[in-house]
Amino acid sequence: MIQRLKNKHVLLGITGSIAAYKACIVLRMLQNAGAEVRVMMTDAARHFVGKWTFEALTQHEVAGDLFPENRVVKTEHVHLAEWADLLLICPATANCIGKTAAGIADDFLTTAIMASRAPVLLAPAMDAQMVQNKVFIRNCGILRDMGYHVLETGSGHLASGLTGPGRLENPEVIVDYVIKLLTPPSRLFSKRVCISAGPTREHIDDVRFISNASSGKTGAALAEEAFFRGADVTLVSGPVDIRTNPGIHVDSVLDTESMEMRIGHYWPDTDILVMTAAVSDFRPEDRIKGKTKKTGHENWPLKLVPTTDILKKLSGSRTRQLLVGFALESSDALDNARKKLKSKSLDLICLNEISDSHKPFASESNEITLIDRDENVEKLPMLPKEELAVRIWNKIETLMDDS
Ligand code: CTP
Repeated sequence: MIQRLKNKHVLLGITGSIAAYKACIVLRMLQNAGAEVRVMMTDAARHFVGKWTFEALTQHEVAGDLFPENRVVKTEHVHLAEWADLLLICPATANCIGKTAAGIADDFLTTAIMASRAPVLLAPAMDAQMVQNKVFIRNCGILRDMGYHVLETGSGHLASGLTGPGRLENPEVIVDYVIKLLTPPSRLFSKRVCISAGPTREHIDDVRFISNASSGKTGAALAEEAFFRGADVTLVSGPVDIRTNPGIHVDSVLDTESMEMRIGHYWPDTDILVMTAAVSDFRPEDRIKGKTKKTGHENWPLKLVPTTDILKKLSGSRTRQLLVGFALESSDALDNARKKLKSKSLDLICLNEISDSHKPFASESNEITLIDRDENVEKLPMLPKEELAVRIWNKIETLMDDS
């Protein structure tokens, strides 16, 4: 895992919701990403989880008392607020959100929020009716207008037995937002990025299809990295099983035709298109309705016709767009990748070599060679896909400098 939060200080504020127990998981994930975490809790939060849990996890005292006995310095809320690079209130109750929106600072946690100059991220959790309450909705609006970051709640089974909105967002998503807020400003900020991922399926009949083993992981890692860097990201994905942050717009497609259509839809507003998808080059000439019986098809010739080369077609109508392609090669790799770079008029091509010892589709890591529009070649070492994404975006950002 990349230590994206290395040297970062996160002040985790916990308020009185049953979801308080999930704060332990969030805390551990922040630490795994390299962050140093301190905790503050309201009195209500202590009814749900003991402070000792957090003291054991952080090896630091949990803050919460505005007027501690036997202390000379009684301004710890200010010191902690100043120490923090980010305040994460998780879970944040309707009460905490209401008080913050109204400027009320009547306990340690709300006073620390008031005293902080760092970004404040609030992850609400409450019952369904409370989330739908107009006062709560108004308070979230007030906070967002003032630059506070308020996450949406998830939907599902609630502690009350009801089903609906109000669940604390998934810990992974919360940590992703912390990373996004603490990632230094980048050239990608507010750029519109479209990334294709995964395989396509070309149906022979209603149950059989031609496809490949692309996992979509490289595309997902690139989407996530661009999201952290502040881009507005759309992931057009063939059938894959991958998790992405809800802040990334995912458009699911099936075959080359639908992938072409959806990418074409985003194309006029796209600043950067990255085609990681393992698009099928052929499709059956006709799709047969229903399931073809094997009887009578003992020797079944299948007529294939070429699909549209999406990248090549779009490169012909580019205005300002920067184009990045991938080249999957099993022989004369560098030469073939160079040819694709030229024939598709790309700014960058990422060469992915298949060999007996290296099957790029199946693995969590990959070895890529970058060839840019001036034919500069950079061979990257074998890297986990999320680190590859960092290197590829770093390279793309240098190409943005030039254009
Ligand atoms: N690509 C595309 N549309 C296709 C096929 C490929 O947009 N119908 C894109 C891929 O997403 C990739 C690049 O073109 O970014 C190169 O794909 P690759 O499969 O390596 O090469 P092809 O151009 O398909 O040529 P070949 O299969 O003959 O190597």
